[in-house]
Amino acid sequence: MPCVIPFSYFIALPRYFVVVHSVVVSHAGRYCLLPTPFPAVTRDARAKLLGQKGATVWLSGLSGSGKSTVSVELEQQLFAKKVLSYRLDGDNIRQGLNKNLTFSPADRKENIRRISEVAKLMCDIGVVVTTAFISPYTEDRDMAREIHKAASIPFIEVFVDCPLEVAESRDPKGLYKKARSGEIKNFTGIDAPYEKPPSPEITLDTSKQTIAECAGVILTYLTEKGLISSEPKEEAKPAKELEKAPAAPAAEAEAEKVPAAV
Ligand SMILES: Nc1ncnc2c1ncn2[C@@H]1O[C@H](COP(=O)(O)OP(=O)(O)OP(=O)(O)O)[C@@H](O)[C@H]1O
Ligand SMILES: [Mg+2]
Repeated sequence: MPCVIPFSYFIALPRYFVVVHSVVVSHAGRYCLLPTPFPAVTRDARAKLLGQKGATVWLSGLSGSGKSTVSVELEQQLFAKKVLSYRLDGDNIRQGLNKNLTFSPADRKENIRRISEVAKLMCDIGVVVTTAFISPYTEDRDMAREIHKAASIPFIEVFVDCPLEVAESRDPKGLYKKARSGEIKNFTGIDAPYEKPPSPEITLDTSKQTIAECAGVILTYLTEKGLISSEPKEEAKPAKELEKAPAAPAAEAEAEKVPAAV
């Protein structure tokens, strides 16, 4: 009978120690080292623990088309169904992880790549992720899709459509005004292109559909595709009733930090 002895030892590398978990297997007087099979918790196991699976809802559209507004409403609707979701948006990405990136084409691509990788990791945890970035280039959105596909994570591209005139008349951050006056250069829709998604999973028209309807369309899609549970659950209180959200920074103040479109 082989004798198996689990143990840990240190490997000293130039700048740190690494703990290696191993077993010594003795058989017929011979010893060998095997890596101990301490299995990592799998995505499926986490999904069972949480009762949900990850998926990324990628919102793309002009500035002012309503990506952030719809994603906030979607988050509330998901919360009411007890689905844990998280929004990635300019305020928590462009001012944090990606604050070293400019709006050059190369940095815009890197911006989208990092957002995609973060979304992928959060989906691996089991969270439904929404991203609200203009993401004007088809090539970049396709890269985001590929990153998810390679990890077998559902990716739902949502084209948040609305005529430029409507988005410009909303101008919630005053960015169109600055772009028209030349204060901001390379602004999507004005002097930089927006490439409409050729085949998004969902198209919304926020000039015709209400905010709640738009979020509802996405929720229905997620339910019909089996990405979130259709089982009736005990209704959770809307998040806004459980906790008063901290006041959002004034749109104008936020706009100061956003020199051009993401
Ligand atoms: N049906 C609708 N859906 C979404 N937003 C709407 C709708 N009708 C009116 N709005 C208004 O349009 C504005 C959309 O602003 P929002 O910040 O959500 O746009 P955005 O696409 O996230 O822009 P940005 O790319 O600059 O962040 C909000 O003031 C919102 O209240
Ligand atoms: Mg926004």
